[in-house]
Amino acid sequence: MTAEAKPSKPKSIIIDCDPGVDDALAILFALGSPELDVKAITTVCGNVPLEVCTKNALKILELAKRTDVPVHPGCDGPMIGEAIFGKFHGAGGLGNLVLPDPVALPSEQHAVDKMAELLKVAKGNNEKLTVCTLGPMTNLALLIKLHPDLLSAIDCLVSMGGAYRIAGNRTLTSEFNILADPHAANIVYSAGLDYVALPLDATHQAMTSPERIAHFEGGATGTPLAATHRLLTGWNRNDPRRYGGDGGPMHDPLVTLYLVAPELFKTEAAHIFVECDSKLCYGQTVADWYGQSGEEANAKVVQKVDADGVFSLLSERIRSLSQAG
Ligand code: RIB
Ligand code: CA
Repeated sequence: MTAEAKPSKPKSIIIDCDPGVDDALAILFALGSPELDVKAITTVCGNVPLEVCTKNALKILELAKRTDVPVHPGCDGPMIGEAIFGKFHGAGGLGNLVLPDPVALPSEQHAVDKMAELLKVAKGNNEKLTVCTLGPMTNLALLIKLHPDLLSAIDCLVSMGGAYRIAGNRTLTSEFNILADPHAANIVYSAGLDYVALPLDATHQAMTSPERIAHFEGGATGTPLAATHRLLTGWNRNDPRRYGGDGGPMHDPLVTLYLVAPELFKTEAAHIFVECDSKLCYGQTVADWYGQSGEEANAKVVQKVDADGVFSLLSERIRSLSQAG
């Protein structure tokens, strides 16, 4: 299934991320989708330390020949407590993909200041931006605290994080992005944003497989397609008992895919909470699906994914990015 033809005006988006194998795929999909206009990439400490995330963002943009997109480093740890790091991205953060060191440098402007600048401009033009978060939400939480007047310029927040009707992937209850900074998540959940959550409930439905990875073969060396094939072949959890088969879950790409093809996803409204005090359940996300808490819904939580549609569109857009001049 492919998304509708290019809309009249691309959706302006900010991608806040911690690249990260799956972050890289989400970014490449966005750059290959004419429906999206990536205004900036902001980085946050997550899968790997901030400096490595930032370098990887620069590498990905050079791979895609899109060094026009600025990269702004953000927070190098959570609002409270120590930083935790990912387990499946390798020390370099891009798994078994090796990319040349970037030529471009990151901006000296902080991620939160860049987010605020873009939102101020949008607000002045009576326009809106969509914010995508692919890692811990520390940068976004600081934006909310420092610039509450700018939140009206956020059209929608689409965010990978949380686990509702499924176990955590980093602790028994908690998904990595939320566990890494639950206080930030709590600020975001309470901000009144139009919020679409892509939790593990969704991402575990979009598992790689040899057949799906075959969609990404044939790229010439040095193209996004070849890089994507390499990223995907290394992204195998080898844990059929947990995931129902071999392969790895497509976490972050679902965020940018949702923006281009929401028809591939089904959401359920809920009020979502995050646990910030418990030792056992620290960072757990909890959904009130049936109004038991008396709180209004504050999120649309993706619960169903058309996985074949996801992989087909992902390969279509990364192929077209690889053919772009
Ligand atoms: O739990 C999955 C999330 O944690 C993904 O965003 C992955 O990149 C890591 O940040
Ligand atoms: Ca990520």
